[in-house]
Amino acid sequence: MNKKMNASLIKLVTILSDGHYHDGTSIGAQLNITRSAVWKMIRKLQDYKIKINSVKGKGYVLAEPFIILDLAEINKKLEDKNLEINLFESINSTNDYLKVPYESKNTVLCLAEQQTAGKGRLGRKWHSPFGRNLYLSGRYFFRKDVSELAGLSLLTSLAVIAALKSLGCNEEILVKWPNDVFYQHRKISGTLIEIQAESHGGSFAVIGIGINANMIDDDPALTSAWISVQKIMARYIDRNELAAHLINHLLSYLAEFDLHGFAPFVEMWGKRDYLRGQVVTLKNAQHEVRGRVLGVNEQGYLRLELSDGSVRAFSSGDASIIR
Ligand code: BTN
Repeated sequence: MNKKMNASLIKLVTILSDGHYHDGTSIGAQLNITRSAVWKMIRKLQDYKIKINSVKGKGYVLAEPFIILDLAEINKKLEDKNLEINLFESINSTNDYLKVPYESKNTVLCLAEQQTAGKGRLGRKWHSPFGRNLYLSGRYFFRKDVSELAGLSLLTSLAVIAALKSLGCNEEILVKWPNDVFYQHRKISGTLIEIQAESHGGSFAVIGIGINANMIDDDPALTSAWISVQKIMARYIDRNELAAHLINHLLSYLAEFDLHGFAPFVEMWGKRDYLRGQVVTLKNAQHEVRGRVLGVNEQGYLRLELSDGSVRAFSSGDASIIR
């Protein structure tokens, strides 16, 4: 069940995050709720695996850093203050929330603390524990045909890199065609794009981005190689700050893309290309080919040099490096 973020929950976490103990009565007075309602919210956070110490006679305190998502904090850093952003405590999938018939061409965003049915590419699941990572989707209208949108997931990965840079991350973060962001062969972020063509021209795209912000090591649900921004930067990541940087960069890149396509981004991609020069197997529904990666073209297609010396560009597929 989708659950909108509750203002009292934001206030409670903010009170508990100052490193001091707070008892149920004083928290209740500040939030204008009963002690038992405070206790219920504490239990809820503990069920979400947020560590809270509770000491008889002293009260409650957060046992580890935790900054809850808060639209007021995100808005402070946004360039466009008039965006519609929907924030959920829990949702099935932020992409699914935006994939409904919609009249307006205005950009709409959706963020959640937790996804109960987070989706990855190729029918995979996206592990989405409460409060650890960033799960953001945006619904964007393009004055373009669906066939012109192949570069969109590449551009989104570049926006993630720009957001990490704005956060102060100067490490060598790379992009893996078509939609992943990597650090030292481990995945930081992925993008899932779902497109609807409009009968009157143009297309709507739901752009879903998951960034491993503060994910912890002992999560048994994770099987493939991943890393979190917290690990890379050796500090707790304030996801409000990360979300604001990401939204700012993404919207500016999308506006440029709507006007000029992927061409202005080809050079930027080339500087961060994880696959460049590698021999890969590229699989998609139609075929499986092997070739050396030459980069991407102005449509965002992957350019491969095949064994007979010919060069072909592919619009979709899953690429794995042959070592
Ligand atoms: C992938 O690498 O396979 C793509 C992962 C995309 C995950 C994000 S999280 C926000 C949005 N909502 C979803 O259900 N999926 C995307």
